[in-house]
Amino acid sequence: MTAHVRLPHPLPVDDATHRAFLTDVVAGLSADPKSIPPKYFYDERGSQLFEAITRTPEYYPTRTETGILTARAAEIAAFIPSDAALVEFGAGALTKVRILLGAAPVHAFVPVDISETFLLGQAARLSREIPGLQVLPVVADVMAAFPLPAEIAARPKVGFFPGSTIGNFEPHEATAFLRHAGTLLGPGARLILGVDLVKDPDVLVAAYNDAAGVTAEFNLNLLRRINRELGANFDLGAFWHRAVYNRELHRIEMHLASKTRQRVRVDGRCFEFRRGETIHTENSYKYTPELFRTLAAGAGWRVATTWTDPQAWFAVHALTLD
Ligand code: AVJ
Repeated sequence: MTAHVRLPHPLPVDDATHRAFLTDVVAGLSADPKSIPPKYFYDERGSQLFEAITRTPEYYPTRTETGILTARAAEIAAFIPSDAALVEFGAGALTKVRILLGAAPVHAFVPVDISETFLLGQAARLSREIPGLQVLPVVADVMAAFPLPAEIAARPKVGFFPGSTIGNFEPHEATAFLRHAGTLLGPGARLILGVDLVKDPDVLVAAYNDAAGVTAEFNLNLLRRINRELGANFDLGAFWHRAVYNRELHRIEMHLASKTRQRVRVDGRCFEFRRGETIHTENSYKYTPELFRTLAAGAGWRVATTWTDPQAWFAVHALTLD
């Protein structure tokens, strides 16, 4: 046995996923400033921690968006043509779409998600719950080019992208996503999107730095995942969670800041940290309705209607393809 010992994975991680994770982490830690893409937060424990974040008193987006969808279900349903196919991007637990499906006479539902096991389980459950609904899950990255199921070719198509997940993208990536969604859904398509709004920075920072420390755990769990899956030796106690609001770029930034000058090993490679140096782990862009309209227009979409909550903390936009 050599000194280079790889710990066994508790779950079989597929090889391509493992290689992409290693490549992205090594590239991100070699860059200056250091960064790691936020999509890697969501291992089993990370997904559970995110669910726990949505239940903290400070994290308003989930309950605010759910409130808008519930209060406006009839109006939103009127935006969905009858017998349409509804395509949800990054479908997850299918909690929010149930509100729409309860109000709109949708014929087919296409949940698109990268996590196969979770997606198929959720799709099967929904299908049992709503027997008349055709549920056609697609395992894919929402940014990738993938074919829609042939069964929905002739149907009017409506995209659904809740949760302000679009805020994780750089604005140019958000434009690329919207353009891609337009091409995928085709002429006459519609899109319903949840987008977090620009607001008081104190409210924003608190939402990403909850008092119970759940978001800190979520952020630090990325290092735990790297240790386990990539054979690294991050000391979780030697980093702290930082959330700041960048006013110029209207985004929350999450970082993991090194408490000391230290050296960390990942897959046999060594990375140096200065005291206070950070790994930038997430951006969460916030958009005013005007900023979002401009973003959408740049990708060929027109905002037909915007619904918000009474405090104007979150927006649900209904878009049509120009
Ligand atoms: C799932 C990307 C919408 O940016 O608010 C929550 C992720 N990160 N707390 C967000 C997240 C820290 C969340 N999104």
